[in-house]
Order: sequence, then C-alpha cells, then structure tokens
Amino acid sequence: MSETEISQDPKRIAVIPGDGIGVEVTREAVKVLRAATPEKLQFTEFDWGADRYLRDGTSLPAGAVEMFHRDFDAILFGAVGDPRVPSNQHAADILLGLRAKLDLYVNLRPVELLDDALTPLRNRATKDVHFTVVRENTEGLYVGAGGHFQRGTPHEVAIQEDVNTRRGVERIIRYAFEFARSRHLRRVCMSDKSNALTFGHELWLRVFKELKSEYADVESRHLYVDALAMELVRDPTQFDVIVTCNLFGDILSDLGSQLAGGLGLAPSGNIHPGRVSLFEPVHGSAPNIAGKNIANPAGSVLSSALMLDHLGMPATANLLRDAVSASIREKQTTQDIGGNLGTREAGDWLAEFVATRA
Ligand SMILES: NC(=O)c1ccc[n+]([C@@H]2O[C@H](COP(=O)([O-])OP(=O)(O)OC[C@H]3O[C@@H](n4cnc5c(N)ncnc54)[C@H](O)[C@@H]3O)[C@@H](O)[C@H]2O)c1
Repeated sequence: MSETEISQDPKRIAVIPGDGIGVEVTREAVKVLRAATPEKLQFTEFDWGADRYLRDGTSLPAGAVEMFHRDFDAILFGAVGDPRVPSNQHAADILLGLRAKLDLYVNLRPVELLDDALTPLRNRATKDVHFTVVRENTEGLYVGAGGHFQRGTPHEVAIQEDVNTRRGVERIIRYAFEFARSRHLRRVCMSDKSNALTFGHELWLRVFKELKSEYADVESRHLYVDALAMELVRDPTQFDVIVTCNLFGDILSDLGSQLAGGLGLAPSGNIHPGRVSLFEPVHGSAPNIAGKNIANPAGSVLSSALMLDHLGMPATANLLRDAVSASIREKQTTQDIGGNLGTREAGDWLAEFVATRA
C-alpha cells in the first residue's frame, strides 16, 4: 500500500476503549489497523472508564488535554457509560470533556448504505443513501448552561439554555461548505428551527445566507428540521451534506444510521481540522450486549477509516471501507446485520482481508 501523502514518522494514536462494548469493538479496530498499516501507527492505550472511576475516582486526568496536543496525532475512542455509575459522571468528564477542551467543533457522521439489503426503506439501493451529517459539537443545548428552581416541588422550573455563538455557527457552516467543495459534492443543506427558535436559529439562518454567496459553486438549501426528518425518509437521494446544530445533528444522524443498516455500522469523527481529533463509533457502551462477543465492530473500523483520512492516509482508509463492504457482501458479519460471526471473529475476518491487500 503506498501512502505517498504522509511522512515516514509513525502516527501516534491514543486508544481509549472506555466501557462495555466500547472495549470489545476497539480491540477489533486496533487489530484491523495493525493488519492494514504495520509500522505506520503507534498505539498507546488509556484505561479511562467506569472501572477506573470506581476504583480511584479518575475520569479525565489533569494534564490529559495538554498531553494529547503534545504527544498524539489522533484518539481512537470506544464508548463510555456504565449502569454502576448512574450519574454517568465519568462519561461526561471524559467524552464531553475531550470534545470541549480539545475544541472538537465538528462531529462528522457519514451515512452510507453499503448493501441494498440493509436499509429499511422500500425500493432503495446503495446509490440512494449516501450523505454526511456535519453536526456542531461544542455549543447548543449541550453546553450544560441552565438550572433548576424549586426542584422537586410542584412549582419546579427547569431551564436548559441553547448557546449559539457567531464564531461557532460560522465555523461549522464554513466547514460543511469546504467539506462539500473538497469532495466535489454538489449540495449543502442547513437545517434549523428558526421559525420557532427565533433568536438562536435566526443566527444560523443569517450566517448561512451570508456564507452561501462565498460558495456559489455549491448548491445551498435550507430546511426546517421537522421537514428534513421527513424528507430523509421520503427521499434521501436529495442530500449530500447536512449541517446543523448539536441537538438536531445527534438525532438526525441516528435516523441516518438506521437508513444505512443500524448503529452497529455507524462511524463518527470529532474533529478540529489540523489538530488532534477523536474518532468513535456512534453507538454507546450497550450494557445489554456487553461481554457476549456479539457487538458489531464495523462502526469502530469505519471510524478508524475516518481517522486515517484525517491523518492523510486515504488509501488505507479506503482499504478498511472495502473490507467492511466485502464482509457484508460475503455475510461475514455479526448478527445485527445478518451474519453469524462473533465480535472477535468478525474482527479477524476484516484483519485478514486488509492484511492480504496491504
Ligand atoms: N459516545 C458514547 O460513548 C455514547 C453514545 C451513546 C450512548 N452512550 C452511553 O452508552 C450507554 C448505553 O446507551 P444506549 O443503550 O442508549 O445506546 P447504545 O448505542 O449503547 O445501544 C442502543 C442499542 O443498539 C445496540 N447496539 C449498539 N451498538 C451496537 C453494536 N456495535 N453492535 C450491535 N448492537 C449494538 C445495543 O445493544 C442497544 O440495543 C449509556 O450509558 C449511554 O449514556 C455512550
């Protein structure tokens, strides 16, 4: 495999498997990466997750952010969340902490149907379901601003504030246009609810209208999020790139993942262009199937492909994608998408596929 684009230095990858099936799928993704890129990647594993938190109170250690900036090129992440930590405090500290402190403002969630049989939509094929959700990842309703008043009484008031900054909105919309342009994608759709959220989302609409004149080569369209949810199911061929706020991106990308075969296959990147960024499957730690060797590792492998794109290794990234497509075609997958392999065996198949072609 020739990777003329990259330097000879191995890329330094921090691996945070986390909890539950995060640990199981990340193990397989690292196996596949090692098979595809012998000597081009160096892995360092971190044991942050519920076990460590329950043992000594560590979630995201002091100095972690500086260490990632200094010593790593990318982070491969599994999932966090454990019923033994009902508050999920460790998960919030680790994942939301890294997204915020590393300023990973893009949540990139490609939706690509890899096999006709995997979509629940009638008469749709692989060519029909192929778009990318660009979700704002540092602002909106997820910043944790708000409070309770008279909590636990009949007069309780709960306020959750939606934070939209000019800088935050502009940089994510600009990223979506640049992403479309650099990949020769024709269309960018910005989605908000500016008819009801007349302050925060009016800002989104205004910035979008301003920026679209700079990207006249890209077709731009605006849809309210309720209309977009409907259109994605009715006719997903209309979309190449969808850019939206944190909350709507979260919901729409889960909808998208189902159009393309389910959570087991869905990848994501938490990105700050040009800086250390974090790649993880869309799914969570799935306590209901953890420890059973049935979780699908493909979402983690496809997230690793996004990581390789970010590291300037597109040929190897495409090799990983080819492996997942081939495994679906040849029914060498886990049960959730119709195969009968376990997590480890599915990982072995993918690793073997890439090793013979690397
Ligand atoms: N990024 C993250 O770390 C992240 C994301 C979502 C949820 N969570 C956390 O994960 C925990 C469980 O959350 P949840 O149950 O709502 O969501 P989940 O994504 O863990 O599971 C949802 C459903 O999808 C199935 N599923 C998920 N991934 C799968 C895979 N790879 N293969 C086969 N089936 C798969 C699960 O078995 C479950 O039925 C919670 O603590 C939640 O907070 C973490």
